[in-house]
Amino acid sequence: MKPKVLITHKIFSEVLEYLKEHVEYEIGKTEGDISKNELIKKIVDKDGLLSLLVVTIDKDVLNAAASLKIIANCAVGYNNIDITLAREKGIMVTNTPGVLTETTAELTWALIFAVARKIPQAHIFTRDYQYKGWALDLFLGQELCGKCLGIVGMGRIGKAVARKARAFSMDIVYTDPHRLSPEEEAKLQATQLPLEKLLQISDIITLHTTLTSKTFHLISKNNIHLMKKTAILINVSRGPVIDEEALADALQEGTVWGAGLDVYEDEPAIHPKLFSLDNIVLLPHIGSATRETRLKMAFMAANNLIQGLKGERPNNLIE
Ligand code: DGY
Repeated sequence: MKPKVLITHKIFSEVLEYLKEHVEYEIGKTEGDISKNELIKKIVDKDGLLSLLVVTIDKDVLNAAASLKIIANCAVGYNNIDITLAREKGIMVTNTPGVLTETTAELTWALIFAVARKIPQAHIFTRDYQYKGWALDLFLGQELCGKCLGIVGMGRIGKAVARKARAFSMDIVYTDPHRLSPEEEAKLQATQLPLEKLLQISDIITLHTTLTSKTFHLISKNNIHLMKKTAILINVSRGPVIDEEALADALQEGTVWGAGLDVYEDEPAIHPKLFSLDNIVLLPHIGSATRETRLKMAFMAANNLIQGLKGERPNNLIE
């Protein structure tokens, strides 16, 4: 008999076809999000779970999962899962690292340019037939060449962002609990700094840290006040890394020049103050959203799941 699997949402048909060869699956919800009650009901007899990052897998869900062996999260981040309890219960948890690095770094750059050159605002202006003639001061943005890029979290994605920054002749500083090797620092021409110093000197600050109790509100009201008045803040990591209300106030008061957000504190809810600002670009958590990457993520999650259910050690087991 094939192991029983719950897939929380409808995923790509090619991945479902592949899974069908190995498992007997049920899809939690084909449209919208699965509710906690539905999840609890459906998880009871399942051996495996393939989840998206929008599904909270907490104590109630894990306690209901009587025979669960593995949770294959289709995301690199796994802050949606109570990993400590899963470990205690002997449930393996896997993620999808590596395959989304370049895509997410590209989106980071798209956001940096969008904010620095006010591209969405200029697009709307032009589409609204408001362009009546060239003007010296129309949509004045900020040049990136020669500016300082501050990277908070120098993991895979942070490094990919740094590599691309070289093309724009920017100075790179970073903060991370783990210092890069001297060779890597030399290759990326990146200098490690404490967070406070990085915030003080960077023109663009981009966040690529995981969400943990240590990084919750890392960009706090006090830290925001350390930033230059001309600074741009970008977040494609996890929303709660920034105190969203404090950022909204700083953008409104003009103590920060601009921001680009792909993630939010209480997703999909967005702080209402952010909607009234014209110095912010808001995206709906699409950092890894290219067809190539999302397909690779889904196949990777499927493979992790199959490996775990076969009793093998999954490639991307979170230790
Ligand atoms: C992740 O994988 O954690 C991203 O947020 C979505 O791809």
